[in-house]
Amino acid sequence: MRTVYVNGEYLPENEAKVSIFDRGFLMADGVYEVTSVLDGKLIDFAGHAKRLERSLNELDMPHPEVLPDLLEVHRELVRLNGIDEGMIYLQITRGAPDDRDFVFPDPETTKPTVVLFTQNKPGLANSPAAKKGIKVISIADQRWARRDIKTVQLLFPSMGKMMAKAAGVDDAWMVEDGAVTEGTSNNAYIIKGNTIITRHLGNEILHGITRAAVLRFAKEAQMQVEERSFTIAEAQDADEAFITSASTFVMPVVEVDGVAVGTGVPGPIAARLREIYLDESRKVAV
Ligand code: PDD
Repeated sequence: MRTVYVNGEYLPENEAKVSIFDRGFLMADGVYEVTSVLDGKLIDFAGHAKRLERSLNELDMPHPEVLPDLLEVHRELVRLNGIDEGMIYLQITRGAPDDRDFVFPDPETTKPTVVLFTQNKPGLANSPAAKKGIKVISIADQRWARRDIKTVQLLFPSMGKMMAKAAGVDDAWMVEDGAVTEGTSNNAYIIKGNTIITRHLGNEILHGITRAAVLRFAKEAQMQVEERSFTIAEAQDADEAFITSASTFVMPVVEVDGVAVGTGVPGPIAARLREIYLDESRKVAV
């Protein structure tokens, strides 16, 4: 049984409790982060901590007292649960007032709820999917307009994964005004020649922590990077495609809406980027 963290306490998972009035439960009024663990260490913790603070600020959510100590809490959970490879899920909500109300509760009396738990995933870095590649379909992006904030409103992304599953593929790329925004839980990329193309930052996509690192490594390796939107037709005509996220790192995409990308097998550039990302991230993991 896992040991989880709830509001200052480390507890067995079946003893951890959150109120039914919690705004995360009633209103999806919460933000989250997923940080991967390799060799028992946190990958890109500083990036996740920074984005978490930004998400809180964008929603006028009070900072929980534990905010400066979150690295210690993450490390303690890794230790208590003996995680070598996996993820840490963290969620902060606006807390639990004593009734349901659209108006934000008084931050003096209602403190944020902070929950963290581990997900043990042995073999995460050596995933067979990375050798095979994944297939995606395109779907309309029907999420709200502030996707740059990492909120727990994951109903549409969840429906997107189900549409992918029903179509017999692995994931869905969301499309808005004719251009790909991102995957249901990852950023989307295509490669044409030596150029990596991924949508520019804005409110339309989550500013991926893995994205930032991968683009930095790509530039260091003398690859060209173009941050601009692209279409599904362009993806189908690309040499390679891939996704990035804290839980998949760099994952090749080999099919888009039934059309093979490039030769239909994972390409050399995505494979190299995955290798560089894993090597470099491991070196600076905390
Ligand atoms: N998802 N875009 C969306 C919509 C995401 O949900 C995620 C992350 C990303 C990639 O961000 P990062 O590289 O910082 O993980 C992009 C996490 C892993 C999840 O919901 O499980």
